[in-house]
Amino acid sequence: MRLGTVLHFIALASAALASFTISPRDPESGPLQDVVTYDADSFSINGERLFIFSGEYAPFRHPSPDTWLDDFQKIKALGFNTVSFYVPWFLVEGKPGDFNAEGVFDIRSVFEAATKAGLYLIARPGPYIHTETSGGGLPGWMQRVKGLLRTSAPDYLAATNNYMSRVCELIAEAQITNGGPVILVQAENEYSEFDGEVTGPDGGYMQYVIDQPRAAGIVVPITSNDAHNNGLNAPGTGAGEVDVYGYDQYPIGVGCWNLDDWVPGQLNDSYWATHLRFSPNTPHLIAEFQAGTASGWNDPGYSYCAQANDEVFARVIFKNLYASAVKSLNLYSVAGGTNWGNLGYPDFYTSYDLGAMIAEDGTITSEKYAETKLQAQFFKVSPAYYSARQVKADTTSFTNNSALRVTQLLDQDSETSLYVIRHDAYESRAVSQYHLELHTSRGNIVVPSLDGSLTLNGPDSKIHVSDYQVGNKKLLYSTAEILTWKKYDDKTVLILYGGPGETHEAAIISKSKLRVIAGPNVLSRSSDGVFVFNWKTSTDRTVLQIGDLQVYLLDRNSAYQYFIPLLPTKSRGEYGSSEGNPEAVIVKAGYLVRSARISGSVLQLTADFNATTEVEVIGAPPRVKKLAINGQAARTTKTKADVGNATWKHHNALPEIQPDYDDSKWTKVDRLETNNTFVTVDTPTVLFAGEYGYHTGYLLYRGHFTAKGDETKLNITTSGGAAFGSSVWLNDTYLGSWHGDVWTRSRAVVYDLPSVEAGKSYVITVLIDNNGYEMNFAVGVDSMKSPRGVTGFLLGNGTNIDWKVTGNFGGEDYQDPVRGPRNEGGSFPERQGWHQPNPPSSDWEDRAPTTGLTGPGLSFFTTNIDLDLPRGWSIPVYVKFNRDTTPPLKYRVQLFVNGWQFGKFNSNLGPQTTFPIPEGILNYRGKNAIALTLWSLEGGNTRVALDGISLVAGTPVRTGKPEVRLVDSPGWTERGNAY
Ligand SMILES: *[C@@H]1O[C@H](CO)[C@@H](O)[C@H](O)[C@H]1NC(C)=O
Ligand SMILES: *[C@@H]1O[C@H](CO)[C@@H](O)[C@H](O)[C@H]1NC(C)=O
Ligand SMILES: *[C@@H]1O[C@H](CO)[C@@H](O)[C@H](O)[C@H]1NC(C)=O
Repeated sequence: MRLGTVLHFIALASAALASFTISPRDPESGPLQDVVTYDADSFSINGERLFIFSGEYAPFRHPSPDTWLDDFQKIKALGFNTVSFYVPWFLVEGKPGDFNAEGVFDIRSVFEAATKAGLYLIARPGPYIHTETSGGGLPGWMQRVKGLLRTSAPDYLAATNNYMSRVCELIAEAQITNGGPVILVQAENEYSEFDGEVTGPDGGYMQYVIDQPRAAGIVVPITSNDAHNNGLNAPGTGAGEVDVYGYDQYPIGVGCWNLDDWVPGQLNDSYWATHLRFSPNTPHLIAEFQAGTASGWNDPGYSYCAQANDEVFARVIFKNLYASAVKSLNLYSVAGGTNWGNLGYPDFYTSYDLGAMIAEDGTITSEKYAETKLQAQFFKVSPAYYSARQVKADTTSFTNNSALRVTQLLDQDSETSLYVIRHDAYESRAVSQYHLELHTSRGNIVVPSLDGSLTLNGPDSKIHVSDYQVGNKKLLYSTAEILTWKKYDDKTVLILYGGPGETHEAAIISKSKLRVIAGPNVLSRSSDGVFVFNWKTSTDRTVLQIGDLQVYLLDRNSAYQYFIPLLPTKSRGEYGSSEGNPEAVIVKAGYLVRSARISGSVLQLTADFNATTEVEVIGAPPRVKKLAINGQAARTTKTKADVGNATWKHHNALPEIQPDYDDSKWTKVDRLETNNTFVTVDTPTVLFAGEYGYHTGYLLYRGHFTAKGDETKLNITTSGGAAFGSSVWLNDTYLGSWHGDVWTRSRAVVYDLPSVEAGKSYVITVLIDNNGYEMNFAVGVDSMKSPRGVTGFLLGNGTNIDWKVTGNFGGEDYQDPVRGPRNEGGSFPERQGWHQPNPPSSDWEDRAPTTGLTGPGLSFFTTNIDLDLPRGWSIPVYVKFNRDTTPPLKYRVQLFVNGWQFGKFNSNLGPQTTFPIPEGILNYRGKNAIALTLWSLEGGNTRVALDGISLVAGTPVRTGKPEVRLVDSPGWTERGNAY
């Protein structure tokens, strides 16, 4: 095979995944201390500088551990070298003192996947993590801690000890100094906002959460994430100072309502100056930067977030960071995920797709994925950037067009400059022509010099370079952007790209002749040993040969299709850190190339295809003579299973309102005191569910009273966080519901009572949809302690009520260690475990959720679905609910797939109707148990039914992804004491 020839993609022997083995070090010798170092410019690993280009990934939002490697390979293919991840305390210590991080919660599998993919890791164990999770990651039982959360209160600190020591020991074992992938550890998260009783940061507290990982053996640098970029805890600030200061920024905030909401003057130009002010001796580190947006109830949804944070955003807003010489960047998030199993916080719904470059369902069709890949790949081969500093940024020094702002970055040693250009008014849609004056080793040069002028087309940004080393040749300048370059034994390949129809010019210091090998002609001139060429970007690519240098001139859309998988190496740089010129191949292959390796003379690629694709090897070591790819060209097929037509079994799910229901095993509401000062208690006993260990999902209360006869009204306050709902019964008489809206977190409702007889006993039953705990962003307010459940009542003129409460069966002694402390809530079928596969349904009535229930109440439905999806394909699968036409009947659904709660659907609160179920949770080749609770909040005899439910498959992608094994999903076993 001659390289450069186009191969139509055909099936060949399947290629094994390129994996990188790390030889474990002898633990006796102790960890190496100096593997990760840094100076004022950048980090070095094993003595090699790099730009830490990282994406945030939440393994805990993907409870199918084999999908982690799949996603990590997609991240690696972007050109990133690092993944940052949080550990969720609340999911691994649901019961105080009981640390349980096995199965889907096992972070050792994260370390393994990162090692296989060749990515470094930044660990962010908290203890507070925020990240739109229940309590911001604090376990529910923190509601009972008296001291202020995230302060030096001794009981709060003591509560963190077990988790921090256990989790940090695991992280310590996986440090790079021990042969693992972890290079940095962040202490706390967004410890930046103070309110109420706390007026400012407490260095003692921050020091405590730095000392915890140090005590557990963490030797890599410790970093911070200051939400306000105010220099808190930066080096030199005393107690609580970290090694490397970091901050986060979300320039367009959350919500995704306004796609064009680029507010004039709002692009921050001062990141570099702020960095020099707060932390001049450490690399410029951004611990989180917006690359997607979380979306709340009734927002337009994630397709809008994807548009608001699209490839144009990536071009203009990310490039502004490079103009600020950022040397460690973590994009939040590189991938979406799912708020399965009640792990989210109330304001956001089940999907946590974020409009990220890797969607919640694992697809990478967004142009943002492709655009970000162009950027990360450039920095991988541009070592001059790693020590470059900002020289000047203005609208006059470099261009003749004062509408444009140019920032020059210079690396003193190599003389390489980067010029980042954008409109001064970054939101401008103008098409601006310009000439650029470059400060080169051969004096100032105005480009283009041969013909035409440069163009900045609307909201756009570009990186021009001068004195840029490409192997043993120097690019005196290029106005076209660099995708990559590689030096092989027989040639050097350089790939340049530009936006559609743009004029570009590049100059190479070389005396060789220029040959046009393919494509439209270029203008050229050679003088003084400098070869200048000028062209117009075209979809027809041009290939030039100058000596042993091959230059590819592409348009940006074509550049998107190029991948540069690193070849495994036994030496340093297992993670692709041998930046500058890591051994790699350049392949044009469309959708995704996951990895490459060479065996003998065969280049083995592992790749995915979403369409019939021509695969072309642009650059590879000369020993490569043949190509092998894992599978076959793609077909496009759609599959759809109408789950609504499956045979469903139905069971009443609210026996609690029946006269003979026995609540003797329920927890008595008998506490007279609480440590919770977030709200004042004005009931005789403390009613908050968290006091009794019930923190997750549906909550139920039963209140017994003996009537005086004068009770005509019940005023009752229920609290479940944003979008919550509640229903109330007196005996089996429905009193009414709070239907929920986007903002109401707690609601008092006065219900009329049917007439009650003096001296007779009655019971009030309350069902509450608890959407999780508030986060705890502002230290000093303890918003996490905002209680859930019944939080106030007045019956008649003050008739006493004896309350009982239940939530998930066992409370903090949760029943299902496999699915963790939050997966199941307190509804009757959940307490019985019927949401798990194989509930005892054989003698239940046949009834589908599309038949539903009549009148208010809660119903449980279950069915089994057999799937037989082909191997070798990546096929996203969703459970899709139809939303009634307006105005919808009010109902709420919880969806369980093989026992895992994978969705909360509210008929009256959008926008989500489609719920992705990851492979591994869903058995793609076998039986699946689907279960639903359906809660009607409609009175009278209204029949409430699902308008439709189906299992839908997205576009199949022919894949070389690692096999996804089934996640252990234990079936139902009788729970002896369940009530
Ligand atoms: C109040 O907090 C203290 C210290 O955190 C704890 O020992 C005590 O058990 C708590 N009391 C309640 C009622 O939760
Ligand atoms: C295939 O993926 C590309 C991005 O790589 C995308 O632009 C295209 O729409 C996808 N095609 C299908 C059929 O999904
Ligand atoms: C499912 O049922 C609906 C109506 O009950 C019917 O229109 C549809 O054709 C059925 N689908 C299948 C696959 O049987």
